[in-house]
Amino acid sequence: MNQQSKPAKNVPAFSLARQVKNMRPQFTAALEKVLDSQSFIGGGYIETIEKQLAQYMRVKHVISCNSGTDALTMALRVLEMPENAIVLTTPFSFIASSSEIVALGAHPVFIDIEPDTYNIDPQILEAWLQREALVKDGKTFHRTTGFPVVGMLPVDIFGQCANYDALHAIAKKWNLWIVEDCAQALGAQFNGKMAGTLGTIGTISFYPTKNLGAFGDAGCCVTDDDVLAEKLLTLRNHGRKRNYEYESLGVNSRLDAFQAAILSEKLPHLDRWNEQRRHVAQWYEEGLGHIPYIKLPRTKVGTHVYHQYSVIVEPLQGAPMRSKLEQHLAQCGIQTRLFYPQSLPDIAFLRTHQQLVTTCPVADFTVRNILSLPMWPELERDEVAYVIENIREFFQMQASAYNREKSCNTAAL
Ligand SMILES: Cc1ncc(COP(=O)(O)O)c(C=O)c1O
Repeated sequence: MNQQSKPAKNVPAFSLARQVKNMRPQFTAALEKVLDSQSFIGGGYIETIEKQLAQYMRVKHVISCNSGTDALTMALRVLEMPENAIVLTTPFSFIASSSEIVALGAHPVFIDIEPDTYNIDPQILEAWLQREALVKDGKTFHRTTGFPVVGMLPVDIFGQCANYDALHAIAKKWNLWIVEDCAQALGAQFNGKMAGTLGTIGTISFYPTKNLGAFGDAGCCVTDDDVLAEKLLTLRNHGRKRNYEYESLGVNSRLDAFQAAILSEKLPHLDRWNEQRRHVAQWYEEGLGHIPYIKLPRTKVGTHVYHQYSVIVEPLQGAPMRSKLEQHLAQCGIQTRLFYPQSLPDIAFLRTHQQLVTTCPVADFTVRNILSLPMWPELERDEVAYVIENIREFFQMQASAYNREKSCNTAAL
């Protein structure tokens, strides 16, 4: 069909407009209550959302804070990493899952990902430890540098949990803690347990575009460990236990009451929104499943909550196709995103030590070819159908152009 004759539709990669339209009275009432209470920091709203989240996630402690990034920093700080500690993590994530390791003076070692889930690959992790590490007096050290290997930081990327059965077996064998970066997977499950509760500490982001998003920065740590929970509570409030009694060096990372009130209003809807995301994913799967040049995401473990729906656009006859498809969709009013345009080891300041540099070919291939399609709960079926139709049309055009070129070349011989 001719581009010009198509009814143009605008399909944003993400939008909160319909959610806000549907829930404006509830949001306004919640914000007004906070305004009337004059209790902007701490107090009842914070306690309520922490309790609601603990109940939802079936976890003992929820410690709210300013952002998902702060949650990561706080988790790593209370785990008290020794000097030059090594943390094994994924090369395919938002920068915060590695930058906070580096910010605390530790070294991220990047372990490649699985091609079908984009999550850290436990087999490669175990192989790295076998090859590079040794255990002495119950502690793990890197053979060449002698640095202590203390933990792993998997990310539940795009809404699917990493393989915690395999990761726990490795953690036990090598005496490592696990910080689970669950910024993108709130509501997902693994073996009946909620995402975020699968490590020693879980960290969550409530950034506005997340599955449960505040209207500003917000985050939390979750744990079943009483001692770590106490340390997190103290750390987030300047290291003070009681009024003006300071126990240790802390930070100011308190969630504010406006964000807490919005989160309380939204949390009861999270499972429904995640279910709607799964419907959108299913529509994509039905519409795109038969296109040979597109590799769809796979649910391998637990339940997926599709924070993103990201596909691999396979190179055609060796030529990269992703940016062409991206441009084609943009011309049709369809917005896509590149999560992520680069592998974290390509960022110079995250390569902290030459002897700890690894190669991550799967992550390298993924960042060159991945494309995130529009994904949000209120997307309508005809909007998804429009995205699918335009992707199909793009590949039909590419295939006929290729066949034309091939027949011209043959004719010239
Ligand atoms: C995987 C991951 N980790 C950490 C973060 C950081 O969260 P925040 O933006 O709330 O600091 C994000 C969010 O953008 C994320 O996607």
